[in-house]
Amino acid sequence: MRLIRKTLLAVLLTFVIIQFIRPARNRSGQASAADFTKVYQVPVDVQSVLQKACYDCHSNNTRYPWYTNIQPMGWMMARHIKKGKEQLNFNEFGSYTGRRRISKLKGIANQIRDGDMPLWSYKIMHKQGRLSDSQKKLVIEWINKTADSLLAD
Ligand code: HEC
Repeated sequence: MRLIRKTLLAVLLTFVIIQFIRPARNRSGQASAADFTKVYQVPVDVQSVLQKACYDCHSNNTRYPWYTNIQPMGWMMARHIKKGKEQLNFNEFGSYTGRRRISKLKGIANQIRDGDMPLWSYKIMHKQGRLSDSQKKLVIEWINKTADSLLAD
């Protein structure tokens, strides 16, 4: 009994202590000149899907829901953002070379088609991250058209 109580207390204490270790927020707050929408004429409905489902991890501005204030959830989110931005940053798309842009566009279409993005852990917590078939189709068709036109250049 005493051991159980001690263990519970230790778990509780750890939980309280880790709350003080807060990751830095991903919020530049600035409009980026190299943003995806500055590089391409992205239709409003396509952009709205990307913004809702992808920008939290693939841009310099994340919307933070309440539960990310609780650790270790905030840490997980920070890790996803860091890794996600390394692979693809919509705010910095304009700084990519032509080849990289094409490969990223194809990557976006593939990830959405296969349902690999957004990450499943994100979809559990974010309703707006669960894309309908018509939303997927809309984005994939436009992305493919854009990638094809770049290849034709
Ligand atoms: C919860 C955070 C999160 C969200 C939301 C998210 N991603 Fe990602 N994305 C990641 C992470 C993390 C990686 C890096 C994966 C890895 O390293 O295995 C990644 C990688 C990628 C890649 C590169 C994959 C590769 O192998 O080249 C593409 C493309 C991508 N995401 C597209 C999207 C699109 C499109 C959306 C929206 C429909 C989206 N992501 C939403 C976190 C996220």
